[in-house]
Amino acid sequence: MQDQLSAILAKAQAEFPGLPARPDFEAAKARYVGPNGELTSLMKQMGSVPKEQRPALGKLINESKAQLQVLLDASLQRIEQAELNAKLGPPIDPSLPGPAEGPGTHHPLTLVRDEMCRILRKVGFVVADGPEVETEYYCFDALNTPADHPARDTQDTFYLPELARFANIAKKIPGERYLLRTHTSSVQIRTMLKGAPPIRIVSPGRVYRRDTTDATHSANFHQLECLYVDKHVTVRDLKALLDYIFASLLGKDTKTRFRPHYFGYTEPSFEVDLSAKHLPKVNKEWIEIGGCGMVDPTVFDAVGYDSTIWSGYAFGMGLERLAMLLYGIDDIRYFYQNDARFLRQFA
Ligand code: DAH
Repeated sequence: MQDQLSAILAKAQAEFPGLPARPDFEAAKARYVGPNGELTSLMKQMGSVPKEQRPALGKLINESKAQLQVLLDASLQRIEQAELNAKLGPPIDPSLPGPAEGPGTHHPLTLVRDEMCRILRKVGFVVADGPEVETEYYCFDALNTPADHPARDTQDTFYLPELARFANIAKKIPGERYLLRTHTSSVQIRTMLKGAPPIRIVSPGRVYRRDTTDATHSANFHQLECLYVDKHVTVRDLKALLDYIFASLLGKDTKTRFRPHYFGYTEPSFEVDLSAKHLPKVNKEWIEIGGCGMVDPTVFDAVGYDSTIWSGYAFGMGLERLAMLLYGIDDIRYFYQNDARFLRQFA
């Protein structure tokens, strides 16, 4: 019987490590320890073994059983691991970069912003920045926009709660409210309060209005503001600069025209139209692009500039509008959806 046990074990040792899958394992296991298994039938023969040999033989059988169990456990563990691996798929290295998305691209608004700043830097403008959380003073009062102006209505503007505190944005007037800036014109005031003229700044940035989102409106969008303060600045200088920047950005065929308008901070004030009928998606001859004018003396008074000496022009325009024109984009929402299929087109 000892030989038989050894033979069974030797066979099992040869067989179990090579079993490919769970059904093979179950069938093999049954052949050894199942009701009709080889080891089982040897155990059944114990009854016919002489009494004095039984303890030694019993011990031997138990040892063999234990050894077989080790083989079974190892085999099952190996098969389970293989099943798990199959479920997990090919091994991956999580520290590797993701599947080739390629190098990133600049967002179309970034492209237009940078291009405009580049064009303006060439003629002496420097980039200025201002906070997106503003106070009423910088956004309205200093820009000659009185308390009853519709732009200041809570219907149009996001005011922050009375208790909101921003350590880096000082209030000029006691009790004035914080708000999300409705235009980049507030940077004009911040820049003029910081230093003496002459001044030549371009300030791109994010602005906020209570607009319901649709194809041409978004509650937050981007503007680009310019301010030039010097002696003897005229409307002609303003017109020449606008002609230059739009021809640079959109091509020589681009023309600009002024329509009289009202802004509290400029006098005279104009809306600027572009003739860009050569551009994709433009089927009108003229489209409105922004506002501009000659800095109103009350604004100079507010920042302590002598308005009998200094003159200047300012303008502001929407960057989304420009990008839509330049690239033929027909819905403003594409800018904010982070859809790689859209963004990839600007690589
Ligand atoms: N702030 C105006 C707006 O958001 C645009 C604008 C008009 C800016 C006239 C100016 C300006 O600097 O002089 O609609």
